[in-house]
Amino acid sequence: MNDVLLSDGRGLKHVQVREYVRGLVAGAEPGAPAPSERELVHRFGVARMTVRQAMDALVVEGLLERVPGRGTFVARPRRSATRLTSFTEDMNRRGLLPESQTLLARREQAGPGVARALSLSEGDAVIHWRRLRRADGSPMCIEDAYLNEILIPGFLQAGMPTSLYDALAGRGLRPTWAEDSITADAANAEEAELLEITPGTPVLRHSRRGLAGEKVIEVSRSVYRADRFTLWVQLGQES
Ligand code: GLP
Repeated sequence: MNDVLLSDGRGLKHVQVREYVRGLVAGAEPGAPAPSERELVHRFGVARMTVRQAMDALVVEGLLERVPGRGTFVARPRRSATRLTSFTEDMNRRGLLPESQTLLARREQAGPGVARALSLSEGDAVIHWRRLRRADGSPMCIEDAYLNEILIPGFLQAGMPTSLYDALAGRGLRPTWAEDSITADAANAEEAELLEITPGTPVLRHSRRGLAGEKVIEVSRSVYRADRFTLWVQLGQES
């Protein structure tokens, strides 16, 4: 699927579909049905995947919600600040099935950047866990997590869990807050191969420094396919 081929003078098709649906549901009661994918495919003459992408963005924004087996509906407004989510939770929230493949899991000595981010000294032991993360069967991101080994003794020996944050929660160390940053970039050859895109395709680099209270428990670097991932952030005024 090539978005460029789908674009016309008015911008990308999935953006047009998304904004059309946004207009349609503006002011609708929570629980009202969203237009069906089939209807939108027909109206815009686009691929089902394009409609999916548009609807996914509105689900992630919190404007629509998917109810498995029933369809997509106007969501109840959410007013809480964005919850610190794991990949697993984030994909579930988007109505996508998360899967992971471990590419590497080992003990390493912290390099200068990782040491600084984890508030450790260079050469201290860290656990490096690299995963290819899929959503609905297709690659979504490559994720490198570095964990402070001292805080999680026996982590590697216990076998790799499905969700890192669930495993940390089990040890009372699920991050409670984080610093995230996002930058745009192009995929290098190795990333492109894993993500099943061509080298040079746009990606989003997401870094996180996750803390459980005062303890820095993880730093991570994820590289997301920009054509599949929309970052959703809710902002508010402190009361
Ligand atoms: C997100 C965060 C990562 C974190 C991961 C845990 O992707 N950006 O820093 O390591 O979630 O995900 P899970 O609990 O699904 O393994």
